[in-house]
Amino acid sequence: MTFRHIVAIALLAGGFAGTAGLVHAQGTDIVAAREDGMKATAKNAKAIKTALDAGADLAPLTANAQEIAAWGHKIPSMFPPGSDTGKTEALPAVWTHKADFDKHAGDLSAAADKLAVALAANDAGAAKAAFTATGQVCAACHRSYREKKK
Ligand code: HEC
Repeated sequence: MTFRHIVAIALLAGGFAGTAGLVHAQGTDIVAAREDGMKATAKNAKAIKTALDAGADLAPLTANAQEIAAWGHKIPSMFPPGSDTGKTEALPAVWTHKADFDKHAGDLSAAADKLAVALAANDAGAAKAAFTATGQVCAACHRSYREKKK
């Protein structure tokens, strides 16, 4: 084996290791980022629930519902191919049924948009109904696509 061969093999091996490292780092980051996004969404939902239960002024919670809607728009891009490994609770079905998964994400935005309108109008009745509907979208998606079903 010539020196040139050794260099070529070393470069090749380094290239592979580098690519694998990159894919891995990216996979880990995206899982952490989407779990943070879900947690933020749960916090927004909790803030709205607290206000509803307390009979508080609802208009200030409009932004929380808008954030949930925005997250719904973002969900599809947070589950790219290859991000199914590592510390994820996402089930393989996310990637085998991506169109249906994305539809659930769209449902979340639609439900949260309605919730935002009801909150902005300080309409407690409509807001409670929209909040329940939003929660049902979370649960429906988790049932099919998340290890923990709640
Ligand atoms: C389109 C499907 C979908 C919708 C809609 C959805 N989720 Fe999730 N959620 C998931 C998946 C998949 C995971 C697992 C993500 C992972 O671990 O990679 C998850 C994880 C979570 C987690 C755990 C995050 C962590 O720290 O690991 C929480 C909390 C959560 N979701 C809350 C919510 C709430 C609240 C809603 C509704 C307002 C919601 N989700 C709507 C699919 C969805």
